Amino acid sequence: MEKRDYSLTEAWGEAVQVMHRSGLLLVSADATGKPNVMTIGWALLGIVWAKPILTALVRPSRFTYGLVDLAGDFTVNVPSPDMDDIVQYCGTMSGREHDKFAERRLVVIPARQVHSPIIDQCLLHYECKVVHKNDVNPQMLAPDIVSNYYPRDDYHRIFFGEVVSVYGVPDFRQRASGLRL
Ligand SMILES: Cc1cc2nc3c(=O)[nH]c(=O)nc-3n(C[C@H](O)[C@H](O)[C@H](O)COP(=O)(O)O)c2cc1C
Repeated sequence: MEKRDYSLTEAWGEAVQVMHRSGLLLVSADATGKPNVMTIGWALLGIVWAKPILTALVRPSRFTYGLVDLAGDFTVNVPSPDMDDIVQYCGTMSGREHDKFAERRLVVIPARQVHSPIIDQCLLHYECKVVHKNDVNPQMLAPDIVSNYYPRDDYHRIFFGEVVSVYGVPDFRQRASGLRL
């Protein structure tokens, strides 16, 4: 699929809408290059340490957790509206037992600058190198968030990824909102 470069924030508004509506796909890979994908519903984009940073929050129970922790990079892929059932699948099945790419016919291709690959069918890609990670600290968290989101004490690790490349289909805005030109 033809892709063009995007600036850091150019398409983030639409990407957040997709994240809120269905979810984004975070891809990581082990040392041999074997990839895994999981759905994320929470992420931030901004500037920290004078770097463009995307944060992803991953619970220790996810197979993805160990992969990102070891590999030190990940990609965040914005799915097209017709991939909603795939997003749901990747958000309920684990890479420990499933090859989600094969099962849902997701095409994996190398990223430009990181070890973790991208999903070709997705509309937009953020390539991220982990520059910091930090565990959510219940002692410093609002009590209602602790009780609403952490009944099992599985506090997320927040991965701060320096965004080293953003690219996607030329008509991302229209396609992300389900419109076709
Ligand atoms: C819409 C949606 C959003 C999700 N967001 C997150 C998230 O931000 N962080 C997280 O740790 N898990 C999140 N999950 C759960 C993981 O995607 C799910 O546990 C997945 O099966 C983990 O896959 P893995 O074990 O292959 O890493 C989300 C699930 C869905 C359906």
